[in-house]
Amino acid sequence: MTGTPNTKRVFIKTYGCQMNVYDSDRMTDALAIEGYEPTDHVEDADLVLLNTCHIREKAAEKVYSELGRVRVLKEAAAREGRRVVVGVAGCVAQAEGDEIARRAPVVDLVVGPQSYQHLPALLADVARGKRPVETEFAIAEKFERLPAAARERTQSRGVTAFLTIQEGCDKFCTFCVVPYTRGAEVSRPVARIVEEAERLVEAGVREVTLLGQNVNAWHGAGPDGSEWGLGQLLYRLAEIPGLARLRYTTSHPRDMDDALIAVHRDLPALMPYLHLPVQSGSDAILAAMNRRHRADDYLRLVDRIRDVRPDIAMSGDFIVGFPGESDADFEATMRLVERVGYAAAYSFKYSPRPGTPAAGLGTQVSDAVASERLYRLQALIAAQQTAFNQSKVGTHMDVLFERAGRRPGQIMGRSPYLQAVQLDGDPSWIGRIGRVAISGLGTNSLFGARIEAVPAPRATPLPEMAT
Ligand code: 5AD
Ligand code: SF4
Repeated sequence: MTGTPNTKRVFIKTYGCQMNVYDSDRMTDALAIEGYEPTDHVEDADLVLLNTCHIREKAAEKVYSELGRVRVLKEAAAREGRRVVVGVAGCVAQAEGDEIARRAPVVDLVVGPQSYQHLPALLADVARGKRPVETEFAIAEKFERLPAAARERTQSRGVTAFLTIQEGCDKFCTFCVVPYTRGAEVSRPVARIVEEAERLVEAGVREVTLLGQNVNAWHGAGPDGSEWGLGQLLYRLAEIPGLARLRYTTSHPRDMDDALIAVHRDLPALMPYLHLPVQSGSDAILAAMNRRHRADDYLRLVDRIRDVRPDIAMSGDFIVGFPGESDADFEATMRLVERVGYAAAYSFKYSPRPGTPAAGLGTQVSDAVASERLYRLQALIAAQQTAFNQSKVGTHMDVLFERAGRRPGQIMGRSPYLQAVQLDGDPSWIGRIGRVAISGLGTNSLFGARIEAVPAPRATPLPEMAT
């Protein structure tokens, strides 16, 4: 779509997890039917939306500093006689609601993640001079409620895409705000998911990552009325012609059942990469976190997954400095990491979140101790990641080519293990899968050379590559 003098422009800044990335895309789709065209330049925007994250204190604070910068732009536009509307969406909006409007006068509207279907109405309120704050948990099926035109408006955004199939969390880990900001676990119906996946594939997507705060808690009724879990859904999606690769994230160890594990053995389209957060290797800390499993349960689970898919790349999340974490508890985490051997993992210093049970515990770990633990853990994880990447040098891997590379004449793709691969190649390869000989290891990616065209994991109508 090209701009006309009447086109309004929206700039959305996205913080936090992939679910927010997905939500921002859907907001863009919904706003498009209201006449808003997306822009990457905040200074051109008539509507600025911050899609925020509340998971840790730093993430939440970023919103207020960004609002300071947006205020300068809004005032400059006003001097030119141009109105800029500023909205805060996402989990900070949900958690802080009216407080944001009070603390930041620049904000015209506040909208929580369950209410994006109301965005057009909220913008109309703003035009009438109101400052709406909408944080109802009215419905979880927000995108099912969008006008059909918005749902059908899936714009091409490249070769890979996220697809939310489940939202919310009932697990109530004692450190986590998600059950409060995203509400109870809700699964989207099969038909809606299949429809959206088909539209994505039509728009050029070849790899879909299914999203959910507890994605493996997804369940729904299959076409014959029988109860489906994530495994059956993955099989159904793999039938879509042209959909070459599937991934899912984020999983909870307690929802990782045998049926889903078997899919990792049997479904070639399901990529061998699993993000399975454990948070800590200490049973005492896991209990205090209300994770409701022990470290050994997790290790045995990883063994069972590796029994069926020995090459699987494991990833995880860790928190250090949880209240009451002793040196011995932390060493148990280090031992668990050593035992699992991660291909990638994310680790964070515990951040007390208002309203969560752990925030009230009187045994907070000092920042200096937490920092030192984080440093050691991240060094171990970085070494494991390098070792994993190094282990692929000299092998041949199927790479899905995603976009032009860093330098002219280069192309960038991803291995089944989610590693970035850079190689000499032609933009016409984008969207196809080719076999690549991995020759070396850079800081953030592997290097290689294409050796032959390969068909996608299933028989799909993807074009064969010319040699
Ligand atoms: N402090 C630090 N890390 C947290 N996470 C969630 N809540 C907190 C918190 N209060 C981490 C967990 C989770 C990831 C998304 O963020 O590791 O898996
Ligand atoms: Fe937060 Fe725990 Fe739910 Fe994950 S499982 S979203 S960490 S409460």
